[in-house]
Amino acid sequence: MSSRKKLIAGNWKMNKTSSDGVSLVAELVATIGKQSEVEVVVCPPFTALESAAKALDGSTLKLGAQNMHFEASGAFTGEVSAPMLRALFATHVILGHSERRALFGETDALVNKKVLAALKNQLRPILCVGETLAEREAGSTLSVVQTQLEAGLEGVGKDQAASMVIAYEPVWAIGTGKVATTEQAQEVHAFIRGLLTKHFTDVVAQKIRILYGGSMKPANAPELLAQKDIDGGPIGGASLEARSFVELVKAAAAVAVL
Ligand code: PGA
Repeated sequence: MSSRKKLIAGNWKMNKTSSDGVSLVAELVATIGKQSEVEVVVCPPFTALESAAKALDGSTLKLGAQNMHFEASGAFTGEVSAPMLRALFATHVILGHSERRALFGETDALVNKKVLAALKNQLRPILCVGETLAEREAGSTLSVVQTQLEAGLEGVGKDQAASMVIAYEPVWAIGTGKVATTEQAQEVHAFIRGLLTKHFTDVVAQKIRILYGGSMKPANAPELLAQKDIDGGPIGGASLEARSFVELVKAAAAVAVL
């Protein structure tokens, strides 16, 4: 059994107004706001961050953002910086999500700048990597993941590495209902753990959480979360409703105490 605490992160994407977000967080606080077996993070859209921060204050729930700019301030219309997120008590930030890469042209180099800026500002990056269906079918899953991971981690020191969270999210499994099999997921997670060992050290690699994302639901979570190298998940669709999100946190807690 690993000593890594499971991490469940709700990625709300572009869903929920500020008041919808407060209602959801209030429900989560009422049911799982005191548990500490699992690290639980909610990542609302920017417009709901401040109200969510207030709603989860005093609970064990943590706050994350879904993206940020790498500069601290300046003429970057429409962008939000790491210090701005820190000022709202955010602790995590999702970076390099496949939707940002595919729809907003984010490159590995840009994602890397964001990772470094997040770490500099004491935000834990949740660095997302994953292959498309075409890449999987072409047999290039591991090389795609390796390129994204190594580029994303460039310049990250050994001393900062344990603050990183890696999320393996096969693009073909995100929001599609097609979940990777436990074998497919565990294979890539073990591969990532091996790369982290090479890049940092074994001790550091054993501390870094590697999450699986892509249609994780209460029905498939127990098996995925029981895998040796799967330390939790970023949850999209199932994080928008308290009931399914709470069930996922409970599934993670059940594995944690095995
Ligand atoms: P999904 O999204 O759970 O809706 O597949 C996961 C994610 O994109 O982080």
